[in-house]
Amino acid sequence: MTSATAPSSPSASPPPSLEVAGLAFAYPDGHQALFGVDFAVARGERVALLGPNGAGKTTLVLHLNGILTGGAGTVTVAGLPVGRKHMAEIRRKVGIVFQDPDDQLFMPSVREDVAFGPASAGLKGPELEARVRTALERVGMEAFADRPPHHLSYGQRRRVAVATVLAMEPEILVLDEPSSNLDPASRRELADILRSLDVTVLMVTHDLPYALELCPRALILSEGVIAADGRTGELLADDELMRAHRLELPFGFDPRSVTMGA
Ligand SMILES: Nc1ncnc2c1ncn2[C@@H]1O[C@H](COP(=O)(O)OP(=O)(O)OP(=O)(O)O)[C@@H](O)[C@H]1O
Ligand SMILES: [Mg+2]
Repeated sequence: MTSATAPSSPSASPPPSLEVAGLAFAYPDGHQALFGVDFAVARGERVALLGPNGAGKTTLVLHLNGILTGGAGTVTVAGLPVGRKHMAEIRRKVGIVFQDPDDQLFMPSVREDVAFGPASAGLKGPELEARVRTALERVGMEAFADRPPHHLSYGQRRRVAVATVLAMEPEILVLDEPSSNLDPASRRELADILRSLDVTVLMVTHDLPYALELCPRALILSEGVIAADGRTGELLADDELMRAHRLELPFGFDPRSVTMGA
């Protein structure tokens, strides 16, 4: 780079939000769940992670912010290796929305839950308040700020869980089964929210129409390896590939008939 091009030059492309290379992992009981996983997610991409029960999806997600470590291979988030050295920064950069919102909400009010992460990272005063307000607005829950999370409906708690993660302004938002247990209206509203966010998304889901609607690209994880990586519509339309990895579309759903709103 010459001195004429500033380091922040818009033409300098940022490192991928996520890079997973040769990731292999066996649980302490000896059960091997990942056998060498390789993929990268560019900044701003929305990618679905599909695969049958037991494929290793959650195991993979737990490696993205260092909850699980110790296997072979590497995970890199925006150029930063996941490991003990950078753990605090990695936890800020990788926002994981767990399948059960009750694993994520534990404070007496919605506001405190959303403030918890940024406050731990050192934000306070009006800056913290603004961060909380913005995160709640992005999920349409600003009117619920003073309510106890456990008085909210499941779908509302899911939205607050998303807000707790957005409040950290993550590099990548990782969602484990975001549409599970949502009624059709809540499911659509969450899709609208996710589409409106200007953030990299990796979404684990068994809801294949949801993956198609939200993610231009999909990965199929099967028996601990990436079995396919391509356009979501093309993967879902490949009957043989789908059957080989125990993926089934809902009755009557034709992926070719869906025009994707990327
Ligand atoms: N704590 C653990 N100890 C030993 N084996 C485990 C543990 N957790 C998961 N496994 C095994 O690792 C494999 C991958 O599990 P994982 O939970 O990652 O699958 P998954 O793709 O998330 O499945 P699902 O779609 O059911 O959520 C499975 O065979 C599972 O039995
Ligand atoms: Mg899982």
